Amino acid sequence: MPLSDQFRTALVTGAASGLGAAFVAMLRSEGVEVWGTSRTRDRVPDSTGFHGLVLELAEPASIEAAWGEAERASGGIDLLVNNAGAGVFAPFAAMSDAEWDGQMRILLHGPAMLARRAWRAMHARGRGCIVNVTSLAAEFPIPYLCAYDAAKAGLAACTAGLALEGAGSPVRVIDFRPGDYRTNFNNAMRAAPPGGEGAADAVAARVWRRLEGLLHDAPEPARAAADLRTALRRGCRGVVRSGSFFQARLAPFLQRFASQGMSGRVQRRYFDLS
Ligand SMILES: NC(=O)c1ccc[n+]([C@@H]2O[C@H](COP(=O)([O-])OP(=O)(O)OC[C@H]3O[C@@H](n4cnc5c(N)ncnc54)[C@H](OP(=O)(O)O)[C@@H]3O)[C@@H](O)[C@H]2O)c1
Repeated sequence: MPLSDQFRTALVTGAASGLGAAFVAMLRSEGVEVWGTSRTRDRVPDSTGFHGLVLELAEPASIEAAWGEAERASGGIDLLVNNAGAGVFAPFAAMSDAEWDGQMRILLHGPAMLARRAWRAMHARGRGCIVNVTSLAAEFPIPYLCAYDAAKAGLAACTAGLALEGAGSPVRVIDFRPGDYRTNFNNAMRAAPPGGEGAADAVAARVWRRLEGLLHDAPEPARAAADLRTALRRGCRGVVRSGSFFQARLAPFLQRFASQGMSGRVQRRYFDLS
């Protein structure tokens, strides 16, 4: 059964690149009419079954406007894929308060604002699905990305709470938790790369190289889109992990069942910290 049997319309944030573009392609191939966002209108040109919208997650007025426009133009969004996001790579102590707040705004407050609007509208119609794209970082944190880790863990906790509130509801909630995928994500966060020459910077530079290597060797975003398609077709709710065997299975397993000492050692080795 194509997904269009469940979802006539979808809103995908961050639709111009990476995972968002792959989600759009997958949904279009399933016959779903898609509204997709970018901060730059030219990056999401209209095409058959696809409608571009401007969205800046750091600005509540932009979120309100994009959601309102998507609802009005579509006659009701059946599926929200809360995907857009970007990280800031920096030592915790070196981050400015504004950078920290910005991470919370675009990765937690903005997506929650959209999800709240979608939840109300979908409930009123008695159907729908909200997919919050979190990250493996929500349970297997990445060094030098503390704000990102915190915001993604916050969005995951929010999604879990909402799933409990909505148990038995016709509106489904999914925490889609990718491991590494080969996208523009690291390039987008080069804004604050390690720069100095001290010992701490040398460690940060090693971790950065490790993150670059992981992304370079990671699967293509189409695989994440295929995993999302499977989850939506099966009517899944709750956490859906997607990625390599280590990232989607072993790392979460370790975090749950290994001792803190053991999982700390694995994390330090994994990120080249020791
Ligand atoms: N790639 C991975 O390995 C990975 C792993 C786990 C989780 N994720 C998550 O997957 C999602 C998609 O990331 P990606 O890997 O596909 O990276 P990407 O290619 O850089 O895509 C991120 C998208 O988010 C949009 N965006 C960034 N900042 C925004 C803002 N302030 N307001 C509105 N939109 C904004 C960008 O849109 P415009 O530039 O067009 O405005 C861009 O299209 C993110 O939430 C990320 O945290 C990625």
